[in-house]
Amino acid sequence: MPMQKNSRYLVTAALPYANSFTHIGHIAGAYLPPDIYVRYRRLAGDEVIFICGSDEHGTAIEMASIQEGVPPQQIIDRYHFANKKGFDDLKIEFDIYSRTSNEEHHKTAKEFFLTLYEKGILTQKTDKQLFSEKENRFLADRFVTGTCPVCGYENARGDECENCGSNLSPLELINPKSKITGDTPVVKESTHFYFPLADFQQKLDEWINTKTDWKQNVLNYCKGWLKTGLKDRAITRDLDWGVKVPLKDNEGKVIYVWFEAPIGYITATKELFQNKGDAEGWKKYWFDENTKLIHFIGKDNIVFHALIFPAMLMGHGDYILPYNVPANEFLNIGGLKQSKSRGTGILVKDIVEKFSVDSIRYALAATLPENRDTDFTWEDLQARNNNELAAILGNFVNRTVVFAKNKFENKIPVRSSDSTESVELFNYVRNQTTLIAQNLDAFKFKDALSEAMNIARNANKYFNDTEPWKLIKSDKDKCAAVINDCLRLCFSLAVVFRPFLPDASDKILKILKSSIADLKWDDAANPKINDGEELGENIILFPIIEDEQISKNVKTDSNEAANTQSGGDDSGIGLITIDDFKKVVLKIAEVLECENVPNSKKLLKLRLKVGDKEKQIVSGISEHYRPEDLIGKSIVLVDNLKPSKLMGIESQGMLLAAKLGKELRIVTTDGAIDSGAEVN
Ligand code: MF3
Ligand code: ZN
Repeated sequence: MPMQKNSRYLVTAALPYANSFTHIGHIAGAYLPPDIYVRYRRLAGDEVIFICGSDEHGTAIEMASIQEGVPPQQIIDRYHFANKKGFDDLKIEFDIYSRTSNEEHHKTAKEFFLTLYEKGILTQKTDKQLFSEKENRFLADRFVTGTCPVCGYENARGDECENCGSNLSPLELINPKSKITGDTPVVKESTHFYFPLADFQQKLDEWINTKTDWKQNVLNYCKGWLKTGLKDRAITRDLDWGVKVPLKDNEGKVIYVWFEAPIGYITATKELFQNKGDAEGWKKYWFDENTKLIHFIGKDNIVFHALIFPAMLMGHGDYILPYNVPANEFLNIGGLKQSKSRGTGILVKDIVEKFSVDSIRYALAATLPENRDTDFTWEDLQARNNNELAAILGNFVNRTVVFAKNKFENKIPVRSSDSTESVELFNYVRNQTTLIAQNLDAFKFKDALSEAMNIARNANKYFNDTEPWKLIKSDKDKCAAVINDCLRLCFSLAVVFRPFLPDASDKILKILKSSIADLKWDDAANPKINDGEELGENIILFPIIEDEQISKNVKTDSNEAANTQSGGDDSGIGLITIDDFKKVVLKIAEVLECENVPNSKKLLKLRLKVGDKEKQIVSGISEHYRPEDLIGKSIVLVDNLKPSKLMGIESQGMLLAAKLGKELRIVTTDGAIDSGAEVN
């Protein structure tokens, strides 16, 4: 096979906002895949830089600063350093982890903005906007809450309704209120710069059509946007915190965070090379058409990376365009969406305290939401560690090394000849190595990982089939050849797993006393071990995860959730704020109908009247109430619970009940009140 020519890659991972701690959904979506990819590319001999950093502007950060009464700098420092450490702990190794609050970034972003301005690309438009007289400021996006015009949810944000997912603008909200002071804003005019995305429609369309090898999910999103028709985008905001608009008569305005943050990739590349004392070095990455620019992101970032940022780059003119944007879907936790604002999710800083980096990386890599949303559970992490890492990979390395230790004086036995089986075995390894590489080239990380595990499976099979424990008695030379093969397989495994499990790979190579420095991907099929050399100390690569370690976590998940909700309170007592409580919409509901769910001992199906709508819920109370007891009663309903199915029947909410031991009583009201009334 001809050697593939080596290439230059500029790999970026979405810059996480410095207003919350990263969770494992972020990792699976946008950070572990590029880390695997970059490690693989380097082994394959490519020239790669890997860029990331904190996204430190935007209304969420300004909001947190106002709510906590501390300067924004304090907020971003808290999360920047914690998240940076989280990446380090997971061995996600960027060449630089920068931050958009850096002066260099403000400079780069302003220059970019000015170039577009001077080229006459930007337009200006005067718009109506909400203005708080009390605070003497315009209320951008999230600084406003009000009733969603689409679904009637009363706590919709200025940019989005969390309940129905509609994209909103503050002016569309019914009964808008300032999130900070609660006062009712007035409408005032403000002039903003716009990026004329609509003008780039055709160019983007043609460009996207050349991207036939992009992931289907990404192409679908892009084509959907293009079909709807692209609209011009406001790229300035009336805010204090951010990159100032570099033109006079624009005091009090900053560049919109989604305009300047992707420019952060350029800034970080500049900084990386400045730090190396090669101030011009970044240019070959951003200006040379031969560089492959690859943006790893989660699906919520697709439009920005696959359409808007490319259009900005086209408009600017100097830079290369993305070569690929391999976006992932979302990783849920036990069926629930990980959400900062709802406080569900497993934080990186917590999980790294509990499990080894390899177990976490393996469990996540095996569950990557490559084409659809996937679900993470603690039980799966345990099963992947125990049944795959330990039982297959760890077991093979261990049984081989132990055998060499006991029967060959802890040395790599010398192989006198190659048996047919052995030749076939390494042909198989060569084919697998190619297959894994093809999968990695195509961003199919899960397939790549399972093919790597297949090598370990077959390695165990080879050990079993050749029966070295019998050969040692009947044919010691042959046994030596087999164990030599097995040790070479350990080396192959160290190479193919290296992008996924950097720690385990190091450990295996250390046992084999093989050099790590100039390791190459192709070495997997041509293992480099030294016959006759003494082996290093055997270590258990993947200790078993006990049930207790898992059950502990399942219990603490809800505490963690409460902690995140309360804005990073680490005390562990799980206090929530009034805002957290307000996320639960409780309403009075009247029971219209009620019946037993067939074949269920516990469930009742209730038809409810909630104001002028009707709802159905399923509740596990039939051991305590007969259906006829409930009809006509006023109960308290959790009205904004995500619908779920119980025994195949949809439940659109949950009733409140008090429980003590075996006793259960539903919560009703003190006197009559109409259904639909809010409880708070
Ligand atoms: N901070 C954004 C998010 O977490 C991602 C920004 S990516 C960049 O969704 F391109 F803008 F930098
Ligand atoms: Zn809504």
